[in-house]
Amino acid sequence: MNINFLDFQKQYASIKDEVNTAVSRVIKSQWFILGEEVAQFEKEFAAYLGVKYVVGVASGSDGLYLSLMALGIGKGDEVITPANSFVATAFAITHVGATPVFVDMDSETYQINIEEVKKKITKRTKAIMPVHLYGAPCNIEALRILAKRENIYLVEDAAQAHGAKFNKKRVGGFGDLGVFSFYPGKNLGAYGDGGAISTNNKELYERLLKIRNYGQTKKYYHDILGVNSRLDEIQAAVLRVKLRYLDKWNESRRKHATQYNKLLTNVKTQKLYDGSESSCHLFVVEHAEREFLQRYLSEQGIHTLIHYPLPIYLQKCYKYLGFKEGDFPNADRSAKKIFSLPMYSELTEKEIEYITKTIKAYPQI
Ligand SMILES: Cc1ncc(COP(=O)(O)O)c(C=O)c1O
Repeated sequence: MNINFLDFQKQYASIKDEVNTAVSRVIKSQWFILGEEVAQFEKEFAAYLGVKYVVGVASGSDGLYLSLMALGIGKGDEVITPANSFVATAFAITHVGATPVFVDMDSETYQINIEEVKKKITKRTKAIMPVHLYGAPCNIEALRILAKRENIYLVEDAAQAHGAKFNKKRVGGFGDLGVFSFYPGKNLGAYGDGGAISTNNKELYERLLKIRNYGQTKKYYHDILGVNSRLDEIQAAVLRVKLRYLDKWNESRRKHATQYNKLLTNVKTQKLYDGSESSCHLFVVEHAEREFLQRYLSEQGIHTLIHYPLPIYLQKCYKYLGFKEGDFPNADRSAKKIFSLPMYSELTEKEIEYITKTIKAYPQI
């Protein structure tokens, strides 16, 4: 058997006619920027998330950056964020001129540790930017209460968590702002880059509409400093088709996760908070002999990846912050031991059986 880490072809085959029709509709209209498709997608995605507003932007990274811009966060400010995530979370903080204040993860859920967050709040803290890592909700309700009590903003990095729920409510609707990525490999993936910001706050919504479009309200009149960061019409048309399938796809991902969890006995897997439902973006396992096990699986045709091999705080680009290995021990340990198994809705039971059987057959020394 040969099992790829992801398989875009299978998903495309299942929605080919609908996607081709949607893309042709945009090409026939010859309207590519901020038209009907983006406007409709924003409404549909807002309804799906259960929030009042969604703003389509060029990528998840831009979504995080524009969110902090809209909140007026900048030089001298601190934003609390996990030490283990994709680097884009911290980059947004750095790019607005603020300082990322890293917090270690919980060793069982891999999510930002709330007790550690509390210790890092200072007079300069303007926001907490947690991540729903691997598609599983972080303890977002507790963070919401904490942020409210401390009078600081909460920006959810939901780039991996389209459709995930905490207490039956979809993530992206807990914070002042929520950010999604539509990078092709995501649960709701575009056919290029794309992103979105969700909010219930009208003022922030209106500011974000300006920021993403050169700060203008009227063509060539620029009220505030802005950027060019718009979800384009072709991506929005593709996403409108895919959004209709998202719940079904997430449901089969969750079934795969259940099967993995049932059959895997010799590796550690991610724990969920009570009351949470993961989008199962990635299925991460932990093993002391990761490199050997990964090689062994690769020899048996099973492709795996590491999310992420080096914590953000140890990346070369953040050397100037002065951290050293050991400052965030859980993040260090996970970076050394975790790796991700194939996870997409089109995986079959047989393939998961094969993967789990192969892992179990790995010779322990
Ligand atoms: C947790 C997290 N934050 C932010 C991003 C950035 O999103 P994008 O790749 O759309 O810029 C990603 C996606 O790769 C992500 O996984």
